[in-house]
Amino acid sequence: MKLKDKVAIVTGAGRNIGEAVSHTFAREGAAVAVVDLDKSRAETVAADIKKEGGKAAAFVVNVADEAQVQKLMKDVVAAFGRIDVLVNNVAISDNRHILEITKDEWDKVIAVTLTAPFLMGKYAAQQMVAQGGGGNILNVASTSGWRGRHRALAYTSAKGGVINLTRSMAVQLAPHRIRVNSISPNKIGSPVGKADFDPTRPVVNLAGRTGVPEDMAKAVLFMVSDDSDFVWGENLFLDGGTMAMEVT
Ligand SMILES: NC(=O)c1ccc[n+]([C@@H]2O[C@H](COP(=O)([O-])OP(=O)(O)OC[C@H]3O[C@@H](n4cnc5c(N)ncnc54)[C@H](O)[C@@H]3O)[C@@H](O)[C@H]2O)c1
Repeated sequence: MKLKDKVAIVTGAGRNIGEAVSHTFAREGAAVAVVDLDKSRAETVAADIKKEGGKAAAFVVNVADEAQVQKLMKDVVAAFGRIDVLVNNVAISDNRHILEITKDEWDKVIAVTLTAPFLMGKYAAQQMVAQGGGGNILNVASTSGWRGRHRALAYTSAKGGVINLTRSMAVQLAPHRIRVNSISPNKIGSPVGKADFDPTRPVVNLAGRTGVPEDMAKAVLFMVSDDSDFVWGENLFLDGGTMAMEVT
């Protein structure tokens, strides 16, 4: 088991990528804090993990709210004793064009997609340092943080921010032996903000298929376990090879 006796927080764990990551972590021996704004989704995932013999608890939290994030860290420590791993997985998209997006729409997406990983990272890292150091933080970015898109503006900007937030967090937390990395996925399961998987979702990649949440779960496990012990401040593309291709 790669995460035996570790305590892991997974945000946006109520469905799709976060759900798969939570199940994988529990199977690898971690106690999982299943964090989501949606109470029934969080509780269902935690209950499913427990049914499989794993350790989990649901936490209903808005990760963009600083006071709720601070309370979450205390609640996780009260439940499981410490924090070893944080996966910042929550994001929302605007799907808007610059000529139409409002400032409120922009602010909301930046708060949830960029400010939340900063807040979660700050307070989780404070706990890791207080425990004596050591730990792993994985920020879920996106190929959208590396490219311009016709129908997303705040989301692409926030994800670009997440990629360099990761590098600065990695530099600042390395003295405490906390490793920070990112993964940039493309087309994994259902689209961001949606529950339904559409197998006809068009993909242009080398793999010739859409990704599934388990693809991400395997990659996230690698990035937060000792298997990636020499990977610091790095980004992994989990995209079926789409970023390697020429644009036609
Ligand atoms: N699905 C993809 O194809 C894809 C592609 C590239 C990047 N990503 C990235 O992967 C991550 C997960 O994507 P997904 O498609 O699984 O997301 P999703 O929309 O299916 O699930 C996100 C979960 O986060 C929860 N959530 C939303 N706002 C929250 C908040 N403020 N506080 C707490 N929980 C909140 C939602 O309730 C939901 O359960 C995101 O960072 C996304 O940008 C996904």
